[in-house]
Amino acid sequence: MRIVLVGPPGAGKGTQAVRLAEKLRIPHISTGDLLRANISQQTELGKLAKSYMDAGNLVPDEVTIAMVKDRMEQPDAEGGFLLDGFPRNVQQAEALDQLLETKGIKLDAVLDLEVPEDEVVKRIAGRRICRNDSSHVFHVTYSPPKKEGVCDVCGGELYQREDDSEETVRTRLEVYHTQTEPIIAYYKAQGLVVTISSLGPVDKITQRALKALKRDD
Ligand code: AP5
Ligand code: ZN
Repeated sequence: MRIVLVGPPGAGKGTQAVRLAEKLRIPHISTGDLLRANISQQTELGKLAKSYMDAGNLVPDEVTIAMVKDRMEQPDAEGGFLLDGFPRNVQQAEALDQLLETKGIKLDAVLDLEVPEDEVVKRIAGRRICRNDSSHVFHVTYSPPKKEGVCDVCGGELYQREDDSEETVRTRLEVYHTQTEPIIAYYKAQGLVVTISSLGPVDKITQRALKALKRDD
């Protein structure tokens, strides 16, 4: 399957993407994770992206589009993919359509995760991520690690993302409403959008998503 995951910051995109990618046996491609990996490896791309990300703004389109293009060329993406955090505006959605068209393929669905804004703020404020692997995500209240500050999975150090401060979250939400939400209308026009609530236990939401994607057998 070829899926785009969309939803506000803190909606649980990363959390669900890891589970859905495993169930559907497709790679999870997160532009946020790819950019953060570039920052920690101090690549030129990472140096450029950092100031935009720390401020909660979008990294320039040419950077993210080229990065996704590159990632989609890898053999594991041939049979399908789950895009998390891309596209993030209509220009990126158009670029993705063009890319898919040159490959003669189409998206199967755009999964839209709905969460009220006050919940999003709570989720982001308590989020902690593992330094070794960004798919090891915890929450100080909702899914606390057994030992404070230590990853249950690999023993790595847990940290708080720099863009998870209250002030930056406000900018990220505004950017979501003004720049990213319009892609939902763009994909609705293509009949691709399935919307589910991202409230409740993590496993329940995964089941809800699989049902909405008609993959719950
Ligand atoms: P990105 O990394 O994509 O961040 P985001 O969209 O803001 O989303 P988050 O990672 O904050 O949230 P999430 O929905 O994945 O939630 P999670 O599962 O972690 O982007 C970061 C930045 O990179 C952007 O601001 C931009 O600068 C740049 N960027 C990235 N892509 C770009 C692009 N295409 N173009 C330009 N710039 C780009 O969950 C959050 C917390 O809630 C966790 O602690 C989790 O444990 C908890 N939680 C999850 N589910 C539940 C639940 N059901 N109940 C209770 N708690 C839950
Ligand atoms: Zn870990």
